[in-house]
Amino acid sequence: MSRDAQKKLAAEKALEFVEDGTVVGVGTGSTVAFFIDGLARLKGRIEGAVSSSEQSTRQLKGHGIPVLDLNAVGPLKLYVDGADECDPWNRLIKGGGGALTREKIIAQASERFVCIIDEAKQVELLGKFPLPIEVIPMARSLVARAIAEMDGQPVWREGAVTDNGNWILDVYNWRIQDPVGLEAKLNQIPGVVTVGLFAARAADEVIIGDRIRPRR
Ligand code: 5RP
Repeated sequence: MSRDAQKKLAAEKALEFVEDGTVVGVGTGSTVAFFIDGLARLKGRIEGAVSSSEQSTRQLKGHGIPVLDLNAVGPLKLYVDGADECDPWNRLIKGGGGALTREKIIAQASERFVCIIDEAKQVELLGKFPLPIEVIPMARSLVARAIAEMDGQPVWREGAVTDNGNWILDVYNWRIQDPVGLEAKLNQIPGVVTVGLFAARAADEVIIGDRIRPRR
């Protein structure tokens, strides 16, 4: 089965988690795009969505799904998002699409985080996919030097500006043995806005194709 077909299957399966009358947290990316298309079919049954990016907001609004402010709706029942890598404990690398900050906020604000991926995203050890880190522009070099001291290879995603007006460093060459510890450590560097490691708040369920994989 093609990767796109697997993404679509996972997105369709995630629709089963949507409860009537609720506000749904919506991630960003090509897998989530399939989820939004599916959510359009349920739009009369939900109150609306909280969106993690301008890109997803456009697609949601295009389908006539109300996009709501997280501050106005409070904690969410469900957040559905994709990932760039996923380990057996449902810890993730995210941010390939640059939306990691809003994604992390919504994941944290949600009771249940359902992650939808295709098989190629499964790894034993996180880090083959370069780890995205959103930084305040003036701190780019400072953060890059701190990462280099930790044996990472930071590469500035030149030209990319996040929805929050910040920049992204992609860190190569890290085999991440302790995702929770690394996430906490990186969060301490001044100028780091968000680390694309979703380890402290991992996904509750990961759907690969139409299979729901339990956390190891
Ligand atoms: C965006 C993300 C996406 O979830 C991640 O990049 C996966 O995208 P796709 O579904 O297109 O493979 O974290 O910031």
